[in-house]
Amino acid sequence: MKKENSKQPVGIFDSGIGGLTVANAISKLLPEEELIYFGDTAHMPYGDKSKDLIKHYALKISDFLLNEKKCKAIVIACNTASAAAYEYLRDAHKGIRPIINVIDPIVEAVISDEHIHRVGLIATKTTVHSGTYKEKLLRRKASLDYTELATPLLAPMIEEGFYNDSISHTVIERYLKEEPLQNLDALILGCTHYVIIRDEINQYYDQRIKLFDSTDIVAEKLKYILEKEGLANDKRQNADHFYVSDFTSSFQKTARMFYGDKIILEKCDIWQNS
Ligand code: DGL
Repeated sequence: MKKENSKQPVGIFDSGIGGLTVANAISKLLPEEELIYFGDTAHMPYGDKSKDLIKHYALKISDFLLNEKKCKAIVIACNTASAAAYEYLRDAHKGIRPIINVIDPIVEAVISDEHIHRVGLIATKTTVHSGTYKEKLLRRKASLDYTELATPLLAPMIEEGFYNDSISHTVIERYLKEEPLQNLDALILGCTHYVIIRDEINQYYDQRIKLFDSTDIVAEKLKYILEKEGLANDKRQNADHFYVSDFTSSFQKTARMFYGDKIILEKCDIWQNS
């Protein structure tokens, strides 16, 4: 049974522009869904902030998406915010509308692949230090050999446009050579920015290991939940909107690299009166 609010948009948020890789996958899989994206560029990066501060930001953004923009569901398109604030948001908005994080669908995919024995994670410092991936993976599959490495230079490097070049090759190789990431069967790209350097990582490993990121897996999860909850839209009425809490021409340029040429960022300062 379709619910009345199935025509409402899907809210997606990230610390900044990186979550556009998730929005892109959602828009390809679910073209009839109207998207409202919010990138908290005024507070980016989240990757080295405390859990408490990220919770505070995430609550404000989710209030904006649910109450002001009347979104029928929210996707936290940021590993760092998913690690720091998912449970908090789920409890704060309990039962109102579905909230999807980017970590659980990846965990699900990794544990159901019987060829994966040793899995690594690369992510921001806050994601790694939260222990969320480790806890969720090992709780579901204690036999996994899990290893992790914080790779804080990667997100800013990509934001600055360094990918598919000698600088990105050097930085990526430097990290992937680290001891914790040896002899892997699979690597989790635990930051929504890393999708942009997925091919370079694949090349480094000579395509020998499996890579997991938060694009198609998360879009599939959203599709499943919207259908299950009677919230899937079969005909969109409005265009997508991409809001940022701070606007510069460099954000606009980076957004094109993550989403394609047609994207237009709109400034929306939800922090103005707080
Ligand atoms: N996009 C964020 C993530 O997936 C990382 C960027 C940041 O540090 O804000 O973790």
